[in-house]
Parts: sequence; structure tokens; C-alpha cells
Amino acid sequence: MKLPYFDIILSRFESGDPEFLENFHRHVHFGAWTGNESPAQAMEQLTQLLIDLADVQPDQHLLDVGCGFGGTLMSLREQFPSVALTGLNIDGRQLEIARSRLPEVPFLQGDACAMPCADASFDRVLAVECIFHFPSRRAFFEEARRVLRSGGNLTLSDIVLPEGTPHGSFDHSAEMLWGRHTQIGIDEYRALAAEVGLELTESEDISPLVLPTYDFLSSLLGPYLAEVHEVARLSKFFMEMGGFGYWLLKFELKQ
Ligand SMILES: C[S@@+](CC[C@H](N)C(=O)[O-])C[C@H]1O[C@@H](n2cnc3c(N)ncnc32)[C@H](O)[C@@H]1O
Repeated sequence: MKLPYFDIILSRFESGDPEFLENFHRHVHFGAWTGNESPAQAMEQLTQLLIDLADVQPDQHLLDVGCGFGGTLMSLREQFPSVALTGLNIDGRQLEIARSRLPEVPFLQGDACAMPCADASFDRVLAVECIFHFPSRRAFFEEARRVLRSGGNLTLSDIVLPEGTPHGSFDHSAEMLWGRHTQIGIDEYRALAAEVGLELTESEDISPLVLPTYDFLSSLLGPYLAEVHEVARLSKFFMEMGGFGYWLLKFELKQ
């Protein structure tokens, strides 16, 4: 699949660009910005919000879907040495880097919508800012439900439309940066979860915390893909206007 932003990041890694290597050493996501922190710190803070929401417990087995360079798993390894970790990503280039950073963690190459994992094999499934790329949110939810154990949860972040917002009205130009991505409303998320046997138990719109990322992306990626400036400017505008938001969501398997 095409992920133009990762093409830029990986090619800057190959060139040894210190700014890219420092900013994206662990995470490639929007970050949660509260003050004058560095981009890498902002990304660590967003990761921590998701880890906290997932309520990880010692000795559990956790699957990180769309695991990027393994940054979330690196943060988890430091905090929960006894948790068994597995990473999954569709992109072998990213997995090569993830494996070099966490050689003891099993990393699987595959599609989140057809996971090469046994039924009821995980207590926690994380999907940090990746579900909008998947071919189908429904297929992924069915898979997450299948691989989760009873009492488990799926925790993710996503760009979410407030109730009643029309789909597809503002988002087309962004493909050239993000590749394929789709939209969903918060009401649709609640219904989708219920249909596959999960329950949406926590949801939080953290848009104000992620807004600074658009200026960061514009200045960092703009020199390599001129359209980024326009995509970032428009996206920031729509998020500020409430056209879409950045949400943290938790779904529980209660039976
Ligand atoms: C914005 S990045 C987030 C990466 C990582 N979760 C992080 O927080 O740094 C989106 C990730 O989704 C992955 N991805 C996209 N489509 C996928 C799919 N169908 N199955 C698994 N992973 C996928 C990409 O390769 C990329 O690593």
C-alpha cells in the first residue's frame, strides 16, 4: 500500500537526516502537545495517554497493530517488563527497523484486517493512529474481537467526525500525504462495536492537544512534498472548526 509520508521519513532516515532520526526514532503520530516540548516528547505523551487508557496489567499479552517502528512497544517494554508483546504491521520496511530496536519481540507482517494470530490470544489490542488506513474498520473490529480474550480491550486513536457531520466533504487533498484513509463518525463507532460484540466504554476528543502537529508536519515534510503545506493548513482549519476531531477510544470485550 502507498504511504507517502512514510516514504519521505524512510528516505530521510537513509540519508541520515538527524532531524528525522530524532523526531521519529520511536513514534510516527500526531503527538499530544501541552507546552514547549520537543516533537518526540509530544509523541511520547500521546503514546502514554493510550497506554494509560488500555489499562495494561502485568503478565498480560498485548498486540500492537500498525506498530510503525515499534515505538509504542518500546515504551511498554520500559514500563511493563512482564507483559508479552507482539507487533503487527503491513509494511516490511518499518518492521525491519522495529525488529532492530526490539530484537526479542515477535513482529508479524500482515494486514490488520486478516491478522495471522490465534483466536483469544491477547488481553490487550492497541491500534495507535492507524485504523483510518485499514481496508475496513469492520473487518479489523471482527479480527480484534476474535483475537481478544474475555475481559480484554481494544484501545485506539483515530480521526473522528462529530455526530451529524457529512463524510468526505473536505478530505480529498490529503491522500497525497497520508495515502488511503477513510472517515467514521463517533455514532458509527458505537454501533460498529456493538455489532461485533465489543462495547465502546471510553471516548475522549483530544483535538486541542494534537493541533500543533499540523505546523510541525508542514515545516518538516513540506520541503520534500510541497502539497503538505496546503493539506496541513486545511486540516488544521477543519479541526479547529470542529469538522473532525482526534479521539482516544476504548472498546471492551465484556463476556
Ligand atoms: C500513523 S502510523 C502509526 C504508527 C505507530 N502506531 C506509531 O504510533 O508510531 C500508521 C501505521 O499503520 C500501518 N498500517 C497501515 N495499514 C495497515 C494495515 N492494513 N495493517 C497493518 N498496519 C497498517 C502503517 O504501516 C503505519 O505503521
